[in-house]
Amino acid sequence: MRQPEVNIGLIGHVDHGKTTLVEALSGVWTDKHSEELRRGISIRLGYADTVFRKCKDCDEPEAYTVKEECEACDSGTEALRAVSFVDAPGHETLMATMLSGSAIMDGAVLVIAANEPCPQPQTREHLMALDIIGVDNIVVVQNKIDLVSREESLENYEQIKDFVEGTVAEDAPIIPCSAQQRTNLDVVIQAIEENIPTPERDSDKSLRMPIARSFDVNKPGADPDEIKGGILGGSITQGEVSEGKEVEIKPGRKNESGGKTTWDPIKTDVTSIFSGGEYREEAGPGGLVGIGTLLDPAMTKSDKLVGQVLGQPGALPKVWDKFVIEFELLDRVVGTEEEVNVEGISTNEPLMLSIGTATTVGVVTSAREGEAEIKLKRPVCAEEGSRIGVSRRIGTRWRLIGVGKLKG
Ligand code: GTP
Repeated sequence: MRQPEVNIGLIGHVDHGKTTLVEALSGVWTDKHSEELRRGISIRLGYADTVFRKCKDCDEPEAYTVKEECEACDSGTEALRAVSFVDAPGHETLMATMLSGSAIMDGAVLVIAANEPCPQPQTREHLMALDIIGVDNIVVVQNKIDLVSREESLENYEQIKDFVEGTVAEDAPIIPCSAQQRTNLDVVIQAIEENIPTPERDSDKSLRMPIARSFDVNKPGADPDEIKGGILGGSITQGEVSEGKEVEIKPGRKNESGGKTTWDPIKTDVTSIFSGGEYREEAGPGGLVGIGTLLDPAMTKSDKLVGQVLGQPGALPKVWDKFVIEFELLDRVVGTEEEVNVEGISTNEPLMLSIGTATTVGVVTSAREGEAEIKLKRPVCAEEGSRIGVSRRIGTRWRLIGVGKLKG
């Protein structure tokens, strides 16, 4: 497989069928952790790659497939694009993970189950998150149509149309499908091909990769001589990574000595690059990439480095432990069952900020009209002008309340 060239997010309310749709399109069941399998929900970002293909002899939409041989006429199919899927968890407690994933989405499929009234809370909250992060190429999939009658499905379709009106998904196609029964997947692929283009990328700039996952791939009790270094997963936004080259990771490692906390950038060498199901010597911007390093796997275990940024040594953006943001607040909180108005931001309140794949809590040290100065608990590596998702603790959960821009 070539290196996937685009990242497609799967978003939507819990249990509406995101993981099932990814599996139908890629053959990969992205829920792998024992807790995910036990609870039946996705907890971390899932990922999978596939190649969209088209049969030369069949008409559209039947011609679209992921199979090398056309199921309708047995002809060989031709590859259109290799794509990566980023499967976001739909449970309301996992919004921070969803926001972190949306930073690497080039477009998204919003999955809405036809057998529940629309919108469910995280259907609304995920769509708002895309709007805030600036992901605007969207395909809506009306899933589970096998569970409803034709009349119910049409009624639900109308609810979806009313719901997306006035949102970033207003002009998105709405494709009825059953991920589980594999019906209408050809139309879903066609809609993705037509509505989620591969963005322009710049591989001439210096390397930049926001880290979306990090792993220790060693089995417990592995022979010390065979221990593999830490693995970093993400999407290269600019530049190229090459095997054998040194890279830097920022903010890096927390260092608490002499009563002071500092963050030291980490430097390491790239030992392997895995993308699109193959090891390769180089990778550029596009879909998901796994980078093998010489790091102690204890440092990369269980997503420990998520939110940090990998790049060419000396060329990464600044690390901030406080900054001023310009913000715009929503009128209402979107992810709750009941309607809650968004009150202004006040001094001393804690906020959760999503910047790239990073999530950090900060305390407002000074709030002004449309601007706030925030001291961060964990520093972030980010460019001035970066978009920031702003969430506030309401009841027991962080809720998205607005969008900000890193002013400096
Ligand atoms: P989270 O990631 O936890 O938010 O859930 P999800 O949106 O990934 O849902 P998942 O794919 O895990 O599907 C939830 C349940 O719905 C599973 O039991 C699926 O088998 C079932 N399901 C998914 N798609 C369909 C469908 O088209 N028809 C039917 N009947 N069931 C479906």
